[in-house]
Order: sequence, then structure tokens, then C-alpha cells
Amino acid sequence: MSEAAVTAQNIRPIKPSFRIASPTRPLLQIRSGQGSKKKILFVTSELTDLVKTGGLGDVSAALPRALGDLHDVRVLIPGYRQVIDSGHPIRVVGRLEGHADLPPCRIGRMDMPDGLIIYALLCPELYDRPGNPYGDEHGHDWPDNPIRFARLGLAAAELAAGNACIRWVPDLVHAHDWQAGLAPAYMHWRRLKTPSVFTIHNLAYQGTLDMSLRRSLGIPQEACHHDRMEFYGKLCMLKAGIAYASHVTTVSATYAEEITTPEFGCGLEGFLRWKADQGLLSGILNGIDESWDPQTDAHLPHKFAPMQWAGKAANAALVRERFGLPHSEGALFAVVSRLAHQKGLDLTVGAASSIVEAGGQLAILGCGESHIEAELRALAERHPQQIAVHIGFNEPDARLLFAGSDFLLMPSRYEPCGLSQMYAQRFGSLPVARRTGGLADSIEDGVTGFLFDAPEVQAYRHAVERALAVHRFPQLLNAMRCRAMGAGFFWRQAIDPYDRLYKRLLGEQCEVALPR
Ligand code: ADP
Ligand code: GLC
Repeated sequence: MSEAAVTAQNIRPIKPSFRIASPTRPLLQIRSGQGSKKKILFVTSELTDLVKTGGLGDVSAALPRALGDLHDVRVLIPGYRQVIDSGHPIRVVGRLEGHADLPPCRIGRMDMPDGLIIYALLCPELYDRPGNPYGDEHGHDWPDNPIRFARLGLAAAELAAGNACIRWVPDLVHAHDWQAGLAPAYMHWRRLKTPSVFTIHNLAYQGTLDMSLRRSLGIPQEACHHDRMEFYGKLCMLKAGIAYASHVTTVSATYAEEITTPEFGCGLEGFLRWKADQGLLSGILNGIDESWDPQTDAHLPHKFAPMQWAGKAANAALVRERFGLPHSEGALFAVVSRLAHQKGLDLTVGAASSIVEAGGQLAILGCGESHIEAELRALAERHPQQIAVHIGFNEPDARLLFAGSDFLLMPSRYEPCGLSQMYAQRFGSLPVARRTGGLADSIEDGVTGFLFDAPEVQAYRHAVERALAVHRFPQLLNAMRCRAMGAGFFWRQAIDPYDRLYKRLLGEQCEVALPR
């Protein structure tokens, strides 16, 4: 990568409101003893408290908190503008040297009101920009993303090595998605014994980069092999995470199996099958935060419990009002989604006539790829009384849609886990979804929602028609709502498998198993 791409846009001095503490040398780096809380460092590019573009942010915020009773879990995230401007005080507690073309940076500590400790990687030339974590306001990826996220991975490795002048040295590093994929790799190249977990939230986003960037990122020659991070002549940050982590997880059992097949493996299926055969790949279903409760959710204008359907109906009336749809007794469908090919919005456009012809309505909230936004706008223009779309995203409207709708549409082509169908069920909205990944693992067909198999309009229509049929029988509809609301996909169910995995890795001599 050229020097120009690495150096700054929008360099701003650290805000004077920061309280700068002089970095302290690590006095003792004794790993905590057996039985006590282990120090776990989450490495992630999103955290819902500060910035999110999808479910990764939700998981990165909820899972460390859910694990908090068992372990001392802290989170490392780039110091994006949204992080710096979040209003949470940041205290500089450490510094990291530059390496290859990765610039030096500082580590800021943020203590969230509920006690979660976040380390923000402060490097304004890389992170202090407008736009989202990955690109500008027009949706173009930042050209220096390889440097930005290699810096994140290397910072994690240096924290694990005790090189950041911070006393807190993790016992285990848990890295998420391609943006953190180089964390286990740098740890391996630095010969650290600290175990690492790499979680794949979405195999389709891979962080590939040109081989010519290898030296800029400080990646050794040995990594350029198809058994390491080489991928069709390029370097792949996601593959680095898979190759070098002590263990790989993904976010549902079904997706863990799917990604070992050509249909879902995005070209990595062979490598993943090898990992699975070694017992180094597993699926742990995500959960949702217990704050998702329709009886107490502060975002909801009308709170409700199972059987208190008047509250749900009042939310539905508000959805219609906010989306400019007329009053109706028909079924109300919702979409709350990133607008990406993965999510099958084109299938929804194809199946929408089934809703319209049955007198139903559809409210859509989301943003993403501009051609999908345009298709959805055109759909709404064709049926102004029945279909409305809001391009954009905000949490209160998302929650209102889950609470007010009868059905949530999720015809995903693939879905590693999916959180929206869990939120919807909790709020009494029955998902209509493709039987794939976490959707297959969290929806009971005909009991808490409706599943279909082939990613085709015909099969999807049939599932929508089953939903419409149930809507005509309120007792049946309400019975399904009660089952869905009680389904209880809470994090506490996922804590145990993560805890067991961490303990196993911490008990093991952690040599990474690489193919010979
Ligand atoms: P994914 O992570 O693939 O988008 P999930 O179902 O796991 O799918 O997570 C969706 C989460 O992201 C939910 O909290 C949802 O409300 C939120 N969300 C949906 N669309 C957007 C968007 N355009 N911007 C930010 N968050 C969104
Ligand atoms: C990804 C996946 C989604 C999953 C989320 C959190 O964005 O697309 O299915 O729920 O990560 O793990």
C-alpha cells in the first residue's frame, strides 16, 4: 500500500476532554490462576453502544456482558469518530509502536456505565473519519482498510504480548470476523502461547487484499500459502483468522455445517472441512440481550405481554401512521434489514403481490446497496396503500416494527445466525424465513414461524400464504405468538458453550494446528 493511502485524512488532535494518564509499565503479567476469572479480550470492528452496521455490533456488545459473571471480558475496537464523539470519557492508558507501514497508536480506556471496559485504538489518521466503520458516506470502502484492520489485529496481539504498557494482559483473545482476522495470525507469528478463538459471523465478507501489501502489513512470507492466508493469489484476512486461531466458531450449528459445503463455503469449504475434521470448528447459536422485553422496553410506545394483544395492536397502528399506511385489519408484514444480496430482498419484491392481493401491508426499514433501495422504493410506489419503505436505520423504529408487525420477512439466501428473527419472536412477530443457518436453528416451522427451503419466489410465496392463512384464525395466530414470545433465545444459553471452549483452550498447551 502506498504511503499516501496510509497517511491521514482528517487528522484531529485527541480531544482535550481526554484525561491523559501516563502509561504505566506492566509490573506483573502473571496469568490468573485456575478457578478465577480469566481475562478475555474481544477484538471487534463494531459495538452497538458506539457504532453498528448489523448483528456483529449487537453480539460484540451483548456477549462480553453476558460472560461478565464468569470472566473479565474487555473489548478492543478501533477509535472511530463515533467512538471518540460518544461522550464516554476516554483515558489514554497505553501506547503501541508502529510496525511495517502500520502507524503507532495509543490505547484509550472507556468505562461504560454498566462496568464494561472498552479499549479504543486511537489512531486518528486511520479511524477518525465520517461514514461508517468500513467506508464513506457514499458506501465506498476506505482504500486503506487493510492497514486499518491489520492495525487492529496487531494491537490485539501486542496487548496479548504485554507490549502495550497496560497491566491487564489477556489470557485468551477472541477475534470476530475478517476485520480482526489478523489478531490470531500476528499472535502466532510472534510465537505467543496465548490461545485464540476466531468467530465467523459472515463468511462472505473476507477482507482480501493484494499480495503486494504483504510487507506493508508486516505479514511474513510463510503466510503466503494456500494452507495459511493465501486465497486465489491474494491474501485473505478472514482466512488468516481461520488458519491461525486455536479454535474457530461460527454463530449457529447449521451454518457451521453449511460452510463446509460448496454452496455456502465461499471457496473456503475445503479448508473449513479440514478444520471441522480436526474438531477445530464449532457452531454456537447467538442469543439476544434480556433487555429485549416487550413489557419493559423503553423504546416501545405501548408495552405488552403475551395475551395483551391490545398493546401489540396499538404499536401496529403507530407503525402504519409512521410509514404513511392507512388503517387496515389485514396482516402487517415487516422487513428490518441491511439491504444486501444475502438478505433476499429481491425475493420479497417477487413475493409481495401475495401480500397485496390478500389485503395485507408491508413496512420496510433498512439501508444498503443502492439498487436494492431503488427496487424497494419502486415497489412501494406501485402499491402506496399497502407497501411503504423507509430507507435508513434507527433503533426505535426497528423495535416498533418488531412489536407492531404480525410477521417478519427474512428470505435470506444464507444467514449465519440472524438476530432479527429472535427479536421479532420476542415481540410476537412471527418470522417467515428460509430454512438456513441460524434461521433453521431458531424458528420452529408452524409453531413459532414459517420456514421454506428453496431460495425461490414460489417456495417463499407458499410460506407467506401459510402465514396469511394463520392470520385469518386469531386463536391460532395468538397461540403461535405466545410460543414465539416464550422461545427464550437468551445469551445465557450460549454462555456455557463459550465458557467450556475457553476453559478447554486455556487448559491446553496452545499450539495452532496448521495443515502440513
Ligand atoms: P445482519 O447482522 O446480517 O445484518 P442480524 O439479524 O444478525 O443480521 O442483525 C441485524 C441487526 O442489525 C438488528 O439489530 C437490526 O435491527 C440491525 N439492523 C438492520 N438493518 C440495519 C442497518 N441498515 N443499519 C444498522 N443496523 C441494522
Ligand atoms: C452477521 C450475520 C448474521 C449474524 C450476525 C451476528 O452479520 O449475517 O446472520 O446474526 O453476524 O453474529
